Amino acid sequence: MVTVADLREQDEPITMLTAYDAPTAELVDEAGIDSVLVGDSLGNAMLGYDSTIPVTMDDVARATAAVARAVDEALVISDLPFLSYGVDSAESVANAGRLLKEAGAQAVKIESGPHTVELTERLTQVGIPVMAHLGLTPQHVHGIGGYARQGTTEEQAAEILDLAEAHQEAGAFGLVMEHVPREVGAAVTEALEIPVIGIGAGPDTDGQVLVVNDAVGFSPSVPSFARAFGDVRGEMRDAIEAYRDAVVEGTFPDDGHSHSEGLDL
Ligand code: KIV
Repeated sequence: MVTVADLREQDEPITMLTAYDAPTAELVDEAGIDSVLVGDSLGNAMLGYDSTIPVTMDDVARATAAVARAVDEALVISDLPFLSYGVDSAESVANAGRLLKEAGAQAVKIESGPHTVELTERLTQVGIPVMAHLGLTPQHVHGIGGYARQGTTEEQAAEILDLAEAHQEAGAFGLVMEHVPREVGAAVTEALEIPVIGIGAGPDTDGQVLVVNDAVGFSPSVPSFARAFGDVRGEMRDAIEAYRDAVVEGTFPDDGHSHSEGLDL
């Protein structure tokens, strides 16, 4: 099994994808992806919300348990959803602990800021590995007014770098850098000893993460920094339409998909 220490020591680029259900997690794991992130992006990707704000601890815990049951090798990291941390210290520790104790994650990810340095230290002390997350932090969508690229001025970039170092110092085992100029991704990676996993942070980070729906071509649209490596949406649409047509035309179920016991009824 991949551990947080393995990620730190790995020479080749680290691969991470999100997953929110057992069958997808199984495929991700079988493909040799190093880490599966049960992101709160499940709000947009699976639950039909237009942001991650409504995602609850129960949503993430249930998805994490499904993923953990399906994964044999990859490191399972689970996202703490909006307001499940940062309000009350004991509650934050309990929520993070629940994702390890009940749901089976090996680590948690926290959308980070000045308010999460102390929490990162506390969680690390009690044995809960923390991955920090800087740059674009979608749980702050209302505070920052959208999903725009972050760290676009030298002052903002320096602030991100300071926060990244503070979280490393506090014990974070890794950092996600989201939607920042590639030079910010490169500078933070250069400055830190812990692995930096980029999403929209350029090619110079220690690894990459994507939302699995984007990577396989299941999302209706893909952010500018992501790439669809397949067309699962198209494949599903074709299969669903073919099923509908076969039922309407009476070609399904045919003899090969019907069973007879020779009953005289
Ligand atoms: O919630 C999520 O999936 C994430 C990744 C995009 C890094 O935070």
